[in-house]
Amino acid sequence: MHRAGGQAHLVTGATGLIGAAVVLQLLTDTDSDIWCLTRPRGARAARQRLHQELTRAARLYGMADTADAIARRCHALTGNLDRPLDPGTLTALPEISHIWHSGASLRAEELFADQVREVNVEGTRRLLDLCRGLGAHFNYVSTASVAPRREGLQHEAPPDATSVLHNVYERSKREAELLVMNSPTPWRILRPVMVVGHSHTYAATTFSGLYAFARRLHRFRRAYGAALEDRRPALVGAATAEVHFAPVDQVARNAVHVGLHGATGYFYHLANSRTLNVADLYTTVFRWSGLLPPHCVPAGTPLAGPDRELNRHMAGFTDYFSRRERFDCTRTQAVVGPQAMSMPMDTTTLTALLDWYGQQVSRSRSPA
Ligand SMILES: NC(=O)c1ccc[n+]([C@@H]2O[C@H](COP(=O)([O-])OP(=O)(O)OC[C@H]3O[C@@H](n4cnc5c(N)ncnc54)[C@H](OP(=O)(O)O)[C@@H]3O)[C@@H](O)[C@H]2O)c1
Repeated sequence: MHRAGGQAHLVTGATGLIGAAVVLQLLTDTDSDIWCLTRPRGARAARQRLHQELTRAARLYGMADTADAIARRCHALTGNLDRPLDPGTLTALPEISHIWHSGASLRAEELFADQVREVNVEGTRRLLDLCRGLGAHFNYVSTASVAPRREGLQHEAPPDATSVLHNVYERSKREAELLVMNSPTPWRILRPVMVVGHSHTYAATTFSGLYAFARRLHRFRRAYGAALEDRRPALVGAATAEVHFAPVDQVARNAVHVGLHGATGYFYHLANSRTLNVADLYTTVFRWSGLLPPHCVPAGTPLAGPDRELNRHMAGFTDYFSRRERFDCTRTQAVVGPQAMSMPMDTTTLTALLDWYGQQVSRSRSPA
């Protein structure tokens, strides 16, 4: 592959799942230095956190040989997306060719609406201003869940004012997309579906989507498990609808390829061509949690007793798994190639991803 060199890149969210993988991919595909907007945490300064998180991601993804490049070419820019960037800090920046904006709050609860908006919308606005000043390209990591329609084929198209958005997170991502689209800076909007662990090692560095679903079910089982023993519960979901999970390494590889080579002013879906259905997802996650697989029932089905409790507990997720969406990837494939993303996504892979997650949880709980 042609290695892009020259000017530096600025990445947000580099301590997160997608951002870290994007940085590792940029280290592989370019010769450039990478500046990462990073917040300190506790006693750990931004630089120390950044290098620790990137090194950990590299080790988990079988890329330990990038450790030297991380130390030499990745630089922390101390900052927080929820407030203006310190002009003094910005003077450290060299010429930047691309901003990769992957930092965001993934909280969906209404309680956090103001905070989520400040980070996801106002943070994007501030970065767009910075981008204009730097004369850089703006690659915005959005989400496929703002896709315009709830059913059928979702095109790589602008957000639609009539689309149903389910929570503060989705609303903030659409608002941010509109800001990006209307900005005079050259932009690309990259929309991943739900992201899971690495396609070979199954590792992930943070755990949302699939893992949050499994975690929530596990908690339910601990609280109400006895009521579900020896009984298949009912869970809202469209049994035959496709579930879209994409491995983090392939999402990052395609994001970087599109962000360096795709035309500006367009939307790009980052989706896996291999899917599984909702019934198989539910069966696998329930069995993994030690529960009998549920019957899928349509939204609006009257439910009582433990079924009602279960559905109340899993509400945010069952909403996603009631959609019947497919994602058009024509534009992404035109840049990346026809096999843009094709990790086999079946019950065996899903179990391997969950087992890897389970091992991390057990390890973090076991006494040192
Ligand atoms: N994961 C998915 O399944 C998925 C699917 C579709 C789209 N996306 C989109 O992909 C992007 C990255 O998601 P992810 O899964 O990588 O999330 P993640 O693992 O939770 O990482 C979020 C990143 O954003 C940073 N961040 C959050 N609030 C910040 C703030 N106030 N100031 C500075 N940095 C802040 C975090 O920094 P700290 O480490 O300091 O907290 C972290 O680096 C998001 O825009 C998300 O909407 C994710």
